Amino acid sequence: MPLTISVNSLDVNLEKVRETLRTGNCIGLPTETVYGLAADATNGTAVAKIFELKGRPKFNPLICHVSDMTMAETYGIFDPLSKKLGDAFWPGPLTLIVPLSLESSIHALVTAGLDTVGLRCPRGIAGKVIADFGKPLAAPSANRSGRVSPTTADHVVSEFEETDLSVIDAGPCDVGLESTIVKVEGNQIFILRPGSVTHDQIKDVTGIAPQEPADTKIIAPGMLKSHYAPDAQVVLDCEECDETDGWLQFGANCPEHPLAINLSPSGNLQEAAANLYRGLKALDAHRIPRLCVSPIPLEGLGIAINDRLRRAAAQKEST
Ligand code: TXA
Ligand code: MG
Repeated sequence: MPLTISVNSLDVNLEKVRETLRTGNCIGLPTETVYGLAADATNGTAVAKIFELKGRPKFNPLICHVSDMTMAETYGIFDPLSKKLGDAFWPGPLTLIVPLSLESSIHALVTAGLDTVGLRCPRGIAGKVIADFGKPLAAPSANRSGRVSPTTADHVVSEFEETDLSVIDAGPCDVGLESTIVKVEGNQIFILRPGSVTHDQIKDVTGIAPQEPADTKIIAPGMLKSHYAPDAQVVLDCEECDETDGWLQFGANCPEHPLAINLSPSGNLQEAAANLYRGLKALDAHRIPRLCVSPIPLEGLGIAINDRLRRAAAQKEST
């Protein structure tokens, strides 16, 4: 049974957390996006435990979490544009893919052998844990591979019930969606994965309109279609559905339904994003055949929400 550590008692437990990480074990780490399954990014065995626990295919490179830009620059090489983005959005829900620095001790299992690394400085208590540990933490979302990402400590506990994982409980995540992943190439900016740092925010900060990668080989296996799939069959853009279905609704004036969860009755996309995985999980727990989803506007955060939902709806791949 996993052990939860309340964020209120973190100061007295910081030494235990540090020792857990130092001895090559994973912890459940709250961030503003989703809960991560974190381990020492410089320790290959520790990182292997992440894959083992998640049952995740090994070709997925993992994001490395740092406490600040200084730590980031020890492990990655920042061109001026990447630096500008980090300075503008960190700590926050943005991951920057940059070349590994020559003396970088990030384990190859983390980068899946690539010569680049995904770096992110999360908001909240994670920064304190990383600064205390003194090294970056590799952390994918703390769920079993192919399942929805956890946005509360309880989700993490139920994913890893038969383990003795320590999970830091800092309550529900603010954002509820994984970070925006960005890669700078020359004076071009590519969004490899949409998230709550939007296209327009990036354009405002840099004066450059980010693009989607034209090269479909570009390596962001988070783009695997089934990455976020619940057990039920997900059906998008539903205006009505059967009594036996679950219904993930959005906005005002939704029809009455015995098994409905409204992501945001007021039609607020931030609220909907924060509730998305919780809603999917809660409905899926009823073992319904179909999980119907109301239309969600394709604008702002709605783009990231629709991106996740499309993956949830896609035919399951072998991840
Ligand atoms: O919000 C988040 O980003 C969460 C929290 C825990 O921080 N983390 C997360 O990590 O979503 P993960 O491992 O599930 O997603 C990693 C994504 C994958 O799609 C991976 O392919 C991409 O980042 N990635 C990591 N390193 C990369 C690299 N060097 N080149 C291209 N993509 C990379
Ligand atoms: Mg994930």
